[in-house]
Amino acid sequence: MARITGGITTSHVPAVGAAIDLGKTGEDYWQPLFAGYEFSKKWMAEEKPDVVILVYNDHASAFSLELIPTFAIGCAESFQPADEGWGPRPVPTVQGHSELAWHIAQSTILDEFDMTIVNKMDVDHGLTVPLSLVFGEPEQWPCRIIPLAVNVVQYPPPTGNRCYNLGKAIRRAVESFGEDLNVQIWGTGGMSHQLQGPRAGLINQAFDKAFLDQLVKDPEAQARVPHIDYVREAGSEGIELVMWLIMRGALDLDVEEVYRFYHVPASNTAVGHLILKNRT
Ligand code: DHB
Ligand code: FE
Repeated sequence: MARITGGITTSHVPAVGAAIDLGKTGEDYWQPLFAGYEFSKKWMAEEKPDVVILVYNDHASAFSLELIPTFAIGCAESFQPADEGWGPRPVPTVQGHSELAWHIAQSTILDEFDMTIVNKMDVDHGLTVPLSLVFGEPEQWPCRIIPLAVNVVQYPPPTGNRCYNLGKAIRRAVESFGEDLNVQIWGTGGMSHQLQGPRAGLINQAFDKAFLDQLVKDPEAQARVPHIDYVREAGSEGIELVMWLIMRGALDLDVEEVYRFYHVPASNTAVGHLILKNRT
């Protein structure tokens, strides 16, 4: 049986990808941020997942205002890094896990979640920056990765509660897959940031820290928080945080917090990072 053994959350700032690709991680501005992921790199090398289900959002790279799936699962054999205007990032091709992805699509759709099946999709900084932060700069990514894209760009995004329940459905799907696989689920994006309008540059450390606490300790309460609270308190792009609830729903109610990191600022964003594990 496949099993979800742990969950990670991390922010996905594009400038972090550029700092890695341009060899700037040792600069004064970036060094404290990358230092915060050293523990995670070692932890991942010990955990050695076979597959990561990587919940992220596309930023008008694979999708656009012409086509806006709420939840979209990548079932292809592989996914290329997207060209976001400066050429594709020089990172490895993402190798998917078609069999497990199709199984999750079938299981969640029959479980009444309307999942869009995607057989061709380039993946942008929303997916590649978390991989770089946690795995560094390998020749090949060390595991298979199933991209699961969530619309948090065009209103209306899914509710936190819908995301939390999707996490539970993904867990049921993984646990009904016959092959013995060590599976992790990652929830990415956030934390507080606003990139546009009069409030551009907004960061709310008090909100972010309370979110981290509540996500770990009382995810059911966090799942009831409405969109407007995220947008008011964490900025228009702070709504990316609902994706973290998909990761959280796939784990037990009571979890072990293995690691926490919080850093301000990275570009316009507050960076948050958690590693969670089921206790048994
Ligand atoms: C920034 C953050 C994001 O989440 C994003 O998608 C683009 C830019 C930033 O802080 O610059
Ligand atoms: Fe983003």
